[in-house]
Amino acid sequence: EAGALWGGRFASGPSPALAALSKSTHFDWILAPYDIRGSKAHATALAAAGYLSDDELHDMRAALDELAARVADGRFVAAESDEDVHSALERGLIDITGVQLGGKLRAGRSRNDQIATLVRLYLIDHARVIAALLTDLAEAILEQASAHAEAILPGRTHLQHAQPVLLAHQLGAHAWPIIRDLERLRDWAQRASASPYGGGALAGSSLGLDPRLVAEELGLGAPLENSIDGTAARDVVAEFAFVCAQIGIDLSRFAEEIIIWNTKEFGFVQLHDGFSTGSSIMPQKKNPDIAELARGKSGRLIGNLTGLLATLKALPLAYNRDLQEDKEPVFDSVDQLELLLPAFTGMVATMRFDERRMAELAPQGFSLATDVAEWLVKQGVIFRDAHEISGELVRYCEERGIELDEPSDAELRTVSEHLTPGVREVLTIEGSVNSRLGAGGTARARVDEQLARLAERVAEF
Ligand code: ARG
Repeated sequence: EAGALWGGRFASGPSPALAALSKSTHFDWILAPYDIRGSKAHATALAAAGYLSDDELHDMRAALDELAARVADGRFVAAESDEDVHSALERGLIDITGVQLGGKLRAGRSRNDQIATLVRLYLIDHARVIAALLTDLAEAILEQASAHAEAILPGRTHLQHAQPVLLAHQLGAHAWPIIRDLERLRDWAQRASASPYGGGALAGSSLGLDPRLVAEELGLGAPLENSIDGTAARDVVAEFAFVCAQIGIDLSRFAEEIIIWNTKEFGFVQLHDGFSTGSSIMPQKKNPDIAELARGKSGRLIGNLTGLLATLKALPLAYNRDLQEDKEPVFDSVDQLELLLPAFTGMVATMRFDERRMAELAPQGFSLATDVAEWLVKQGVIFRDAHEISGELVRYCEERGIELDEPSDAELRTVSEHLTPGVREVLTIEGSVNSRLGAGGTARARVDEQLARLAERVAEF
């Protein structure tokens, strides 16, 4: 078998069915640049241990650079006979150097320690890409919040009108999870930045190679302490898939809100034509497909995570071929987020809010009843009574089909002697919102501080 990495002990080559099953070049080719960087670093370690002369090291590294260039511009691609990216690249290297030099490179390493390292390098790079896309989204949310600093909408619990809140507060509530996702990516990268290279197949190398040289050249932290762990563990991959799934969930919760806000019944937002789609039959339709795809893809991201966890569960140490199944799901999570985030951010940045519509609905559904109760508490009424009185006022209004601010002074008094006309100061949505001055509350002053802190946090990443 031309180009195979093994064969000495085999009387025949692999059956076509096995070759087809085993093949991974269609998805691991994306690791080729990382594989070549790993090979250059490994050549350094081989030379330091005396297995390559200075000239050989120079030629090897030059050949690997040439191979990288050929891969980059498509002059070198995986052949039908290549099992995986590692075997293809060894074939490509030997094409350039001849077997006398190229055939030395594999000493002291295995595809097992290679692949465990390469997937980290790939994910660390994409963690940066995803983080940059997330900061763009957080900035778009912040801009919308600042552009609508005064707007008030009905805050909801159980999807029912609960209490009026500033739109900026609601938007901020979608931005903080993104900050935490950015923190997760940063924390993850710290853990991921350790090098399995040098672990060999599982037991380490007998050649006296220094894995620190490889780790350093790859820009990773220290080599892992245990070669079995280094080649067998994939918690770093699963954790990355979790962070992707959590990002998907955070986007999906925002998406769901946008979809609801965008309905005729709510009418809180209009999506920009460039970020919505039409219907093939209904000419009037303008659909929030980006938000729907965000919602849909979050399911896929969760599936990528759970599939991977199922693969890892009870897998004996050390390397098993099952571990090849880690790559497609996590690569897919990366691809989906890198596709989704720019579209999602564009949708958010260009959404137009109908402040009047939101303000009109904000006091409806007796959403100021808590304000009445808390106003009574401030007048010295105990909360249990205050809650009762406010509830009676709600019932009084509901029976008459009016809102809380509509009863006359005399009517207020008939509900309770404690309901003096002074209660009207909290019966506006502005009064309600601005009375919530406690830490983390929706009062304008608190929200302005919150947005300033949010901007500081975004700038950290
Ligand atoms: N393609 C494998 C993977 O993705 C790496 C190669 C290890 N193969 C092996 N037979 N030991 O995990």
